[in-house]
Order: sequence, then C-alpha cells, then structure tokens
Amino acid sequence: MSLFITFEGLEGSGKSTQARILYESLQAQGYPVILTREPGGTRIGEWIRQILVDLRHTEMSPTTEVLLFSAARAQLVHELIGPYLSEGGIVLCDRYADSTYAYQGYGLNHNLDDLLAITTFATGGLMPDLTIYLDIDAELGLERKRQARSAPSSLAPHLATLQEGRPPIYGKPEWNRLDARELSYHQRVADGFHKLMLREPERWRRMDANLSIEDLARLIMDAVAPLLEQVQQYHLPSNQSLSDAARE
Ligand code: TYD
Repeated sequence: MSLFITFEGLEGSGKSTQARILYESLQAQGYPVILTREPGGTRIGEWIRQILVDLRHTEMSPTTEVLLFSAARAQLVHELIGPYLSEGGIVLCDRYADSTYAYQGYGLNHNLDDLLAITTFATGGLMPDLTIYLDIDAELGLERKRQARSAPSSLAPHLATLQEGRPPIYGKPEWNRLDARELSYHQRVADGFHKLMLREPERWRRMDANLSIEDLARLIMDAVAPLLEQVQQYHLPSNQSLSDAARE
C-alpha cells in the first residue's frame, strides 16, 4: 500500500520547511518518497502557479481562481501523485485540496459543496491519508513571510530540477497576489482550517507552529511513524527505483 501525506497551514507557518525535513528523513531511511507542492509540481502546474500568484492579475475572478487551482491539482494527480501512489510509494504534498476549501471556500465565500464537486472532478476523489496542520496566528505568519520574502521566483530553476528528477528547490518564499490580501481574509482562512479539522479529526494532526523546527520535525515523525508500516514492504535500497523493483 501507499501513503499520501499533505501539509497545510497559513503563510509563514513553516510547512514547506517541515515537508522537506520529513522528505529527507524518509529518503534517508530508504523509503520510496517524493515531495511536491501545490499549486505546481508539474511543468503545466508551475505555469498555472505563475498566473495565480502574479501581483498584476488583480482582475482575476474568484471562479477563475478556483478553476486554476483545480486545474493544477488535476495535472499533479494525473502526472505525479496518482502514478507514484499506484506504485506503492509515499507522496508528500505541500498543500492540497484542503487549501481550496480554506482559502477559496472560507476565505472567498465560495460554496463548499461546489468546491467539493470541482475537487472530486479534478482529483478523482483522491484524499490524503494524513494531513499535518501547522497552526500559526495569521498576523504573525504574514509578518514572518514578509520578512523572508523575495520577488515571485522564475520558473526556470524549478523546471530544471523537475527534469532532472530531483525534488524541487523552492528558494525563498515569494510575496504574491494571494499573500497581499487583507488580514481578515487570512483570519477567515485560519477559521476555515479549524472547521475542516473538526469535520475529520482522524485525518488531521494539528501542531503548534511556534515550536522549534526540531521539535516540530520530531512530532511530525511521531505522527507519520505508525503509518509507515503500510509501506514497509516496499522498503528499497535507496538507489533502486520503484519501477526497477516492480520489474524484478
Ligand atoms: P504556497 O506555495 O504554499 O505559499 P506559501 O509558501 O506562501 O504558503 O501557496 C501559494 C498560495 O496559494 C498561498 O497563498 C495559498 C494559496 N492557495 C489557495 O488559495 N488555494 C489552493 O487551493 C492552494 C493549493 C493554494
């Protein structure tokens, strides 16, 4: 069996750092694992990301925004997540469909049933086995991100790593069109995430993003460890790909 783990949280919560630490740790233990992100993670998805985050695109309609996030997600599931899970691997994804419910649903007031229908259409109903939520105060998170910000990154370095089959290196966080929304929007998103967690408490693990990087990494590994049994049988020497193993 495979394992699908997603990371969610507000801007500046540190989820991308934690996703990378978990990825490196699982890889070092010899697990077949990939790390990807939303929106993005594929060539097409990274182009869609550029459209979504571009600060000049002030005219984008909320519906267009939902459909673009969903289109990027559909491509990612089709091209990367679905095939890797069907080979029995572990997929770590920095954001997934819960971000659409929180940001476009609770944040922009889109009808949640409509979002569920669009998401199911885009993903074929694929759901994470576990979702790690890094909980941070919206204002503090935005401040953290503002301090670390850079201009929206160019697509080129990311595509190069994709083509070489290496995990993407995202560089500094970018300050983008979605971050630039007012604080009350980010607070509605945070409330939305809390409501989503209440609906499905067994899938989510909420963690305090104010903890140190090391403490959080340890807590995340504790949450993931019981689920690793389901991929244990695919434990491979690190230089052997899943496809190689499947051929043997
Ligand atoms: P991300 O790359 O995670 O940015 P950050 O590292 O700044 O958190 O996500 C990009 C932005 O896209 C972020 O503001 C959240 C937003 N987003 C949505 O609004 N809806 C979605 O479905 C997804 C996946 C992301």
